[in-house]
Amino acid sequence: MKKMTIRDVDWAGKRALVRCDFNVPLDESRRITDDMRIRAAVPTIQYLLEHGAAVILCSHLGRPKGVTESLRLDPVAKRLEELLGRPVNKLNDCVGSEVEAAAKAMNPGDVLLLENLRFHPEEEKNDPAFARQLAALADVYVNDAFGTAHRAHASTAGVAAYLPAVAGFLLEKELTFLGQALENPTRPFVAVLGGAKISDKIGVIKNLLSKADMLLIGGGMANTFLKAKGYEMGDSLVEEASVPLAKELMAAGEGKLYLPVDVVVADAFSAEAQKRVVPADGVTPGWRVLDIGPQTVALYAEKVKAAGTVVWNGPMGVFELPPFAEGTFALARAMAESQGVTIIGGGDSAAAVEQSGVADRITHISTGGGASLEFLEGIELPGIAALNDKK
Ligand code: 3PG
Repeated sequence: MKKMTIRDVDWAGKRALVRCDFNVPLDESRRITDDMRIRAAVPTIQYLLEHGAAVILCSHLGRPKGVTESLRLDPVAKRLEELLGRPVNKLNDCVGSEVEAAAKAMNPGDVLLLENLRFHPEEEKNDPAFARQLAALADVYVNDAFGTAHRAHASTAGVAAYLPAVAGFLLEKELTFLGQALENPTRPFVAVLGGAKISDKIGVIKNLLSKADMLLIGGGMANTFLKAKGYEMGDSLVEEASVPLAKELMAAGEGKLYLPVDVVVADAFSAEAQKRVVPADGVTPGWRVLDIGPQTVALYAEKVKAAGTVVWNGPMGVFELPPFAEGTFALARAMAESQGVTIIGGGDSAAAVEQSGVADRITHISTGGGASLEFLEGIELPGIAALNDKK
């Protein structure tokens, strides 16, 4: 890690402004349905408290346009109190005179949680005056929000211009695992990519083709590749405009790029649809591909289990519909059984691993969906670039 971290700072008597990614899913009663991102922030917070700092936490939640009652951070404060075993003083704004007064009155060991940063449009505009107001609350800025590190916002990038800026443990851990996979993987290095669209992942496919020994493709995006091979895809989701690109990628990935050999097709996009397994070149009009088939599962599982390093991003099928979840869940189990370093690139694949009950047997589950994709694409993330280099 070439960036300074919280280990490089003497925290005694200092106030830390810690940007976390507390963008967690909530149900209709505003109950947190997955607290992974909150739990992942705890080691940094504990370290700062144990080393004499007062901790000011901040995050966004959702994509509000102005103040939105349902997106206040109170449920996060409650969960944090349970996890930290100490009071968390949740404020109703993130800047302004009341916030400044609360920050000034803090003692070492105190924890403050600011209100949703995105209630102020200046946050996403990376407005310098807003960034300066945030910076004025503290002595040192800590970025531990890996999930938001691909955004150049005031609290992820702008604020670093006004304070010493260091990485937290979560950010450090994410960069270590994802960075190691890209730069110095134990081989064979197998990448598994799924999800609906090739167009969302062109950069990742290209970068991984240059680094990985094998690229296993599943999910809706496989349909566009199969179409590019000249197969009939029936009513499947196909990105017609990306067919030429799929041909190009197949030529570039000759010998490395694997596509499904069989698929599960359905006569409607519904959990009640009729389904059957057909060879990848056996899809007929009126049917659509919703999952990879058992032979593909066996082939991909064998590659994953024998890998030195596996990185997986994107589901293998429409796993939110139970009849079409088997490909995704089987891949999760294969990851758990792999002898290699196993890394899940956040988002839907992280949810699938949690749901299949094997999360504790995965080496690293990233807290960043979009951020890990951009990292795997080889793009420098603004939230990381903004931090101070190690001397
Ligand atoms: C995420 O959930 O991917 C991050 O919290 C970033 O959220 P955003 O896509 O709304 O910027």
